[in-house]
Amino acid sequence: MRLASYDSVERPQNVNDLRLSDVLSSLSYALDLTSGQPPGHASRSCLIGMRIASELRFDADDRSALFYGLLLKDLGCSTNASKMSYLFGADDHDTKMASKTVDWTSFLPRVGYVAKHVAPGGTMLDKVHAFLRVAVSGSAGAKSLIEMRCERGAEIARDLMLPDETAEAIRSLDEHYDGGGHPEGLKGDDIPLLARILGLAQTVEVFAIAHGIDAAYDMAATRRGTWFDPQLVDAMNAFRNDDAFWKSFFSEAPESAVKEFEPEDRVIPVDEDALDRIASGFARVVDAKSPWTYKHSAGVSMISAGLAETLGMPIENVRTIRRAGLLHDLGKLGVSNQILDKPGKLDATEIAAMRKHTEFTHTLLNRVSGFRPLATLAASHHERLDGKGYHVGRTANDLPTAARILGVADMYEALAAKRPYRQDLNGAEVMDIMTRNVMSGGLCPDVFSALKTYLANGGFTPAAIAA
Ligand SMILES: [Fe+2]
Ligand SMILES: [Fe+2]
Repeated sequence: MRLASYDSVERPQNVNDLRLSDVLSSLSYALDLTSGQPPGHASRSCLIGMRIASELRFDADDRSALFYGLLLKDLGCSTNASKMSYLFGADDHDTKMASKTVDWTSFLPRVGYVAKHVAPGGTMLDKVHAFLRVAVSGSAGAKSLIEMRCERGAEIARDLMLPDETAEAIRSLDEHYDGGGHPEGLKGDDIPLLARILGLAQTVEVFAIAHGIDAAYDMAATRRGTWFDPQLVDAMNAFRNDDAFWKSFFSEAPESAVKEFEPEDRVIPVDEDALDRIASGFARVVDAKSPWTYKHSAGVSMISAGLAETLGMPIENVRTIRRAGLLHDLGKLGVSNQILDKPGKLDATEIAAMRKHTEFTHTLLNRVSGFRPLATLAASHHERLDGKGYHVGRTANDLPTAARILGVADMYEALAAKRPYRQDLNGAEVMDIMTRNVMSGGLCPDVFSALKTYLANGGFTPAAIAA
């Protein structure tokens, strides 16, 4: 089947000029969003860690492995967001952000942190319930939260074909030098050196941004030998008074300074296959955020590509649409799990917060070389032909076939899946709702017709995504 005319899909240009480090340093802003940190956290952590590596005269291989570990240390961060939000009865971003400045190994700060952050805005009873949930979960709960995050992060790093040393550094970044960390309680030199740098760099970054350079150095000195490897803390003294370094650290775009730390002879070029892998990896980060959207991005991507093929689009366009499907909900990393997982109807404030996700998707993708041409397409999946969609309110003239495909695929996958706020729908009920959306002028009838053909040919099953 072919539409009378369909639009060309913009594709990444000059892929050969792209560096993996450029793509990933820009995409690390998506990880900052999910870890509740200010934009640029991963890039600034990268600056600190790489500067330590320079002081210790690491060779090029180690510097390259460390470089990607620092940028991608939060790849697994979305995995425990749902559980953390449930335990605390709070926005996962707030609890994660606050957790980075607390010394978990000391009893009183830990209790104080929990008491302060459970059920904000809730009744005293809500707070007591949440406090008890966290208390009952205890040390084993904290270990499990970190384990989920570390294992998933390392797994995605391996899927991105990064070195084992990078994956291992991500897996062990929450270990402490004295054995008091998680997930394995490794001690001293048993913790991979790169992981020790990740742990120090991320904490120094948080303190430097929140309280200034002196506070960051004081924190590192206080935790020298407990949380952190003494030789690494000592190495930081070499750049305490390096004004040029700290100027780039506090700059608007720290990722520009990050580039200078990548070993020139270890630059990894990005080709189309690598962009596909990166899109898949970040789709897994998004899909891990909520148990209710498990494999949603993968499903939307598969359906979108199937519809593009059914409509006879050229293979390059199918590839672009598949990639846009993987990344369309990237902005959901910025939405609280209290909203994403809510077992009931959202109120007006929550709807407004949920609707921000397409804008976040656009902003995040627009800063990434290689994915910039997808930004508008991916962020248009909740637009409607009649102009009643969001976040721009585009109309039919402004919605190319590729965007219409994403809209249909997104709605179909969402309706066919389980959701916390409604009963499961059978196939006929799903198609009935979609037909009504076509009739009311929201969805494209030609793309909907392609969906029926695609499904009739056995194009999409949940099992196909699991494979
Ligand atoms: Fe969405
Ligand atoms: Fe979606």
